[in-house]
Amino acid sequence: MGIARTHAVALLGLTGALVEVEADISAQLPGMILIGLPDAALSQATQRVRAAATNSGCPLTVHRLTINLSPAALPKHGAGFDLAIALACLAADSTISHVSVGKVVHFGELALDGRLRPTPGILPGVMTAARLGYTTVMVPIGNEAEARLVPNVRVIGVASLRDAAIFHGAQLAPIPVEPILAAALPNSTDAEPDLADVIGNDDAILALQIAAAGGHHVFLLGPPGAGKTMLAARLPGLLPDLDPASSLEVSSLRSLGGLGLGDALITRPPWEAPHHTATAAAMVGGGNGQIRPGAASQASHGVLFLDEAPEFASPVLDALRQPLESGWISIHRANAVAHFPARFQLVMAANPCPCGQYGAGDLSCTCPPNARRRYLARISGPLLDRIDIQLNVKRITAAQLRLAAGTNRLTSGSARNRVVGARAAAAERLASTPWTLNSQVPGPWLRGAQVRLTAATTAGLDRALERGGITMRGYDRVLRIAWTLADYDGLTSPGADQVGQALYLRKGMTS
Ligand SMILES: Nc1ncnc2c1ncn2[C@@H]1O[C@H](COP(=O)(O)OP(=O)(O)O)[C@@H](O)[C@H]1O
Ligand SMILES: [Mg+2]
Repeated sequence: MGIARTHAVALLGLTGALVEVEADISAQLPGMILIGLPDAALSQATQRVRAAATNSGCPLTVHRLTINLSPAALPKHGAGFDLAIALACLAADSTISHVSVGKVVHFGELALDGRLRPTPGILPGVMTAARLGYTTVMVPIGNEAEARLVPNVRVIGVASLRDAAIFHGAQLAPIPVEPILAAALPNSTDAEPDLADVIGNDDAILALQIAAAGGHHVFLLGPPGAGKTMLAARLPGLLPDLDPASSLEVSSLRSLGGLGLGDALITRPPWEAPHHTATAAAMVGGGNGQIRPGAASQASHGVLFLDEAPEFASPVLDALRQPLESGWISIHRANAVAHFPARFQLVMAANPCPCGQYGAGDLSCTCPPNARRRYLARISGPLLDRIDIQLNVKRITAAQLRLAAGTNRLTSGSARNRVVGARAAAAERLASTPWTLNSQVPGPWLRGAQVRLTAATTAGLDRALERGGITMRGYDRVLRIAWTLADYDGLTSPGADQVGQALYLRKGMTS
């Protein structure tokens, strides 16, 4: 009867592996079976592929079809194998050329009418095919621009199974169809809000610049309307452009999240702000079938913002500890582990109490002291331990507003130039270490012989430690920020001024 082979790619996290799709036609009772560890969405592929083929005017054989996806031990998820399965079946009964389908790696989910739907994970998928030496890929037309971002690969974008069959030699006349395109995306680069919009709040503006320069996580505490959300949203705009490797990683994660890319790689740091009702799966990734990256991964090389942080469920906050520790998230399944990068800068914002009015100055807070303490205690110690900058944000007053009206405010563009300079200075000082940003440097190194500050410089800090006004962890955090302040001011090392300023930038909370 007949047998034919083609190729597809299985993704586990960002790691791709080649899958051989083999179709065999035999003279047994009619039917269509799929073997090789398919998940639920994949096993529905048999129904989808048969309907799509019939509606495309190139029906599958009425004889028995056995489709094998190998290697069998590799977990395979999602609907991205439809096109490869359909074409292997059509080649097995010689409707199309064996040789032609054997040379191409296919991507794409089929709609019942035979059109191809945009499919998640095209960028990392095509990169895998290219890495393994394949020179031609076929993708849904809605993903064509994304696939073309991978250099040195010939990309065939097709709107329907019929067009795909014609490319591979089917004797059919083309029938134009309305292509299914990816949903249009807002262009994120021109939407970055500017620091110049912020009036007053000089401490917070300095804190944001220092956070950007040193990669420090930030906690903003203050009453509603103080501008916490507004400030946090301006952090990505202070970060430098993504380097080529990060750009590819961020773009691949977007693609895998099914968010689509358009026709350019992402070059600006992402901004993710999951709502406080987010589940652990939404935060760190998961889902049935295809494992999707969560907000923490989508924020890689950018900013993860948790507004109203105490309102998040504790398991969701706790799930952030692994990525904060390692920069990676591992998601375990019965037969597989998916790893996603998650190296983000964390910004948390919180009201000082459940009603939000505590400390606003007008004594209108109605929360009992107990409720107030419990509210912030919801954010666990291990999480707070990783946050270098903790700042009280106050509402600006009418007087400040008037005062600031005529002044020239710092723009994100000029702040970003200084951030780039400060990061370069830190990277140079840390060249012989595994770290590049001050926020990554552990305390013992900061207190060690190589960069130890003089007793006169740290006198104020040492006193705070002796009095018990600060813990050892807090001490190290102040040193880290002081170094970033020095880099930001173009100094070779921090002086007493920078240490004093650093003490202030973590005054928001105790410990
Ligand atoms: N310092 C400020 N400069 C300019 N606008 C501000 C400032 N602080 C607050 N606002 C305005 O108040 C609104 C509410 O601020 P928001 O960031 O949502 O506060 P919060 O998150 O602290 O509740 C913002 O949309 C912004 O327009
Ligand atoms: Mg807010």
